[in-house]
Amino acid sequence: MKIKSSIKPPEMISASQIQRRIHVLARRIQQSFDGQPDWAIIAILNGSYVFLADLGRALHKVGAHPQIDFLAMSSYRTQTRSSGRIRVERLFKLPVRRRAILLVDDILDSGRTLALAHQLLKQRGAQSVQSCVLLDKPDRRVIPFQADFVGFTIPDRFVAGYGLDLAFRYRNLPGIIDPSAS
Ligand code: IMP
Ligand code: MG
Repeated sequence: MKIKSSIKPPEMISASQIQRRIHVLARRIQQSFDGQPDWAIIAILNGSYVFLADLGRALHKVGAHPQIDFLAMSSYRTQTRSSGRIRVERLFKLPVRRRAILLVDDILDSGRTLALAHQLLKQRGAQSVQSCVLLDKPDRRVIPFQADFVGFTIPDRFVAGYGLDLAFRYRNLPGIIDPSAS
């Protein structure tokens, strides 16, 4: 007997679209950091873990081999809205002084997370800080912040999949969905 799969929300961005875009981003990042052999990545947990895994390997393919460490931050949020208060849960251990750093996050929303991460890196002496996000929701910005490398610009909708969660669910989906659109 065939079991019907449950109704799933339609995919906003497919796994193959994401993979193609990541290879473009990797080439651009490699070109931008070419000549700075000591550049490093700080990825913001938790949401960026899937993106970083694919971006890191795409960078390897184009010949870039940065050191990689993580910064865990959390915003106190209801299921879909951030309260605006951000806490550093785990600081990176990698020395960043006088180095070119690329911050990697899943999504740029209000801008608070990346603005704080940027400030932390500068305080610890990073020579330059650029940022790369898979998704950008410019309509939601509270703090003016622009990422240097953006995968996809999306409308003001709460999304999940590919590392992004709704109450800890959907992180393992290969593409991006709008969970409210089922
Ligand atoms: P910001 O500080 O408001 O820019 O929010 C950034 C963080 O909020 C991201 O790193 C995500 O973890 C989370 N976030 C923002 N928008 C979404 C969304 O649509 N889906 C899932 N997580 C989101
Ligand atoms: Mg996050």
